[in-house]
Amino acid sequence: MNIDTRQINLKQEASRAAMNFITPYILENNNFLIGVGTGSTVDFFIDELSCFSCSIAGAVASSDRTKSKLSSCGIKVIELNSIDHLPFYVDGADEIDESFCMIKGGGGALTREKIVSSVADKFICIVDESKLVNRLGSFPLPIEVIPMAVNSISRRLTLLGGKVVLRDGFITDNGNVIIDVHNLYIQDQLSLEKEINNFPGVVTNGLFAINRADILILAADEGVQLIHRY
Ligand code: 5RP
Repeated sequence: MNIDTRQINLKQEASRAAMNFITPYILENNNFLIGVGTGSTVDFFIDELSCFSCSIAGAVASSDRTKSKLSSCGIKVIELNSIDHLPFYVDGADEIDESFCMIKGGGGALTREKIVSSVADKFICIVDESKLVNRLGSFPLPIEVIPMAVNSISRRLTLLGGKVVLRDGFITDNGNVIIDVHNLYIQDQLSLEKEINNFPGVVTNGLFAINRADILILAADEGVQLIHRY
C-alpha cells in the first residue's frame, strides 16, 4: 500500500470512530446539532454523518467548502447565529501535541473553525498518526490577515524568528489572506497564540491552545485510539 492510500485509510478510520462515538448522542436527542470542521479528514466524516441526515437537526459549517459538502450529503446547514451552543465540534488538524494543542489552517479555514469550535462543549480532533507531534511548529503556522496589514505583521513575525510566506493566490472565505510562518520555535503555545492575536490586522492565528481539543481520535496502523484530555 502506498503512503497516500494508507493515510487515506487512516483518515477514514478516524472518521468512522468519531461517528461511532457520536451515534448514541444522536439516537437519544431528536434535536441533535453538530459543528463540522474543514479538510479531507472531515470530508470522510461528513460521508459517515450523511447516514444520519434524517436523524440530525443540522450542522454548523466552518467553511464554504464544508457547507457545500454537507448540503450535497443532504445535511441541513444551520447558521451559527441561530444557535447557542453545540454538544460536539469535529475537525482535523495539521499537528496536535500531547497536551492536545493544535496547529490548524492548512486548508485556510482557521477563523471559522475557531469560531464554531468555541461554542462546542467538546472538540473532537480526528487525525491519522502523522499529525501527532512532540512539539508544534514543523507545520508552518497559518495566520489569517487583513490584506493591508501583511507587511506590518510580517515584520513582527520575523522578529519572533519566523520565516514568512504569503500563501500564493489564496483568499479566505472572509476575504482575507493567509501568511504561513515557517521555523517558529513554539515553546508556550498559549502565550504565542495570544501574542500573535494581538498584532493589529491579525484576524486569527492557527494555534488552537486556548480552545484545544477535548478528545483525540488517533488512527494508526495498530488501530484507532480515542483519548480524552486529562
Ligand atoms: C483546515 C484545517 C484542517 O483541519 C487541517 O488542514 C487538516 O486537514 P486534512 O484533514 O485535510 O489533513 O485546519 O483549515
